[in-house]
Amino acid sequence: MQNPIIDAILKRRSSPLLDSPAPNSQQLEMLVRCASRAADHGNLRPWRFLYLENEHRERLSEALVKMAESEDPALPDFKRTKMAQKPYRAPAILVAISRNIENPKVPVLEQQMATAAAVQNLLLAAFSMGLGAYWRTGSACNSQIVKSALAVQSAETIVGFIYLGAAKQQALLPKSTDDWSNYLQIGLTEK
Ligand SMILES: Cc1cc2nc3c(=O)[nH]c(=O)nc-3n(C[C@H](O)[C@H](O)[C@H](O)COP(=O)(O)O)c2cc1C
Repeated sequence: MQNPIIDAILKRRSSPLLDSPAPNSQQLEMLVRCASRAADHGNLRPWRFLYLENEHRERLSEALVKMAESEDPALPDFKRTKMAQKPYRAPAILVAISRNIENPKVPVLEQQMATAAAVQNLLLAAFSMGLGAYWRTGSACNSQIVKSALAVQSAETIVGFIYLGAAKQQALLPKSTDDWSNYLQIGLTEK
C-alpha cells in the first residue's frame, strides 16, 4: 500500500548532526502550520514557538552558561565552553512552549501533551520536507535563568528545544529489531 503519510511516519528519524542552512521562511511557516494541527483538547492552542536563528542563539548560549554557573559556582572552563556551544549545534532552534492556560476543563498536563503532539507533527513535517530535526530537553527547560532570558513566563513550560537544519548524514532507517507487537496488548488477561 502506497501512503506517503504512513511512509513518512514509519521512516522518520531524528538528525543529531545538523548543518546550515536553517529552514527558510516558507519551510518555517509549514512546520508551524503542521504543528498547529495537533490534537488539542478544547481548541485552546496551548502552544507557542520561539524561533532562534543565527545570532539569536547567543542569548540562549549565555543563559545556559549562567544556569550551569548557578548549579556549580566552581564550573570548570571546559564545561562552560561546552554549555556555551550547545545552541550552535544547529543553525536554528525552535523552542516549543506550552502556555499552560487556566481552564476549568483542560488541565495543564493535557496542554503540555498537546504541545508535545504538536512537536511530533513538526518533526514529521521536517522529515518529509527533507529537513533535519532533533528534539532536546534537559534542565534548561525548567531553568528560571533560561526562561527569563527567552522571555518565557514562569507559568509556561518549555516542552523542548527543537534543533533544525540540514541533516549532515542521511537519516538511518528505524531499527528493524523494533517489533511493534511488543507495544500492543489486545484485550485483558483473565481475572
Ligand atoms: C520529550 C523528549 C525529550 C528528548 N530530549 C533529548 C535530549 O535532551 N537529548 C537527546 O540526545 N535526545 C533527546 N530526545 C530523543 C531524541 O530527540 C530522539 O528522539 C532519539 O534520539 C531517538 O531518535 P529517533 O527519533 O530517530 O528515533 C528526546 C525525545 C523526547 C520525546
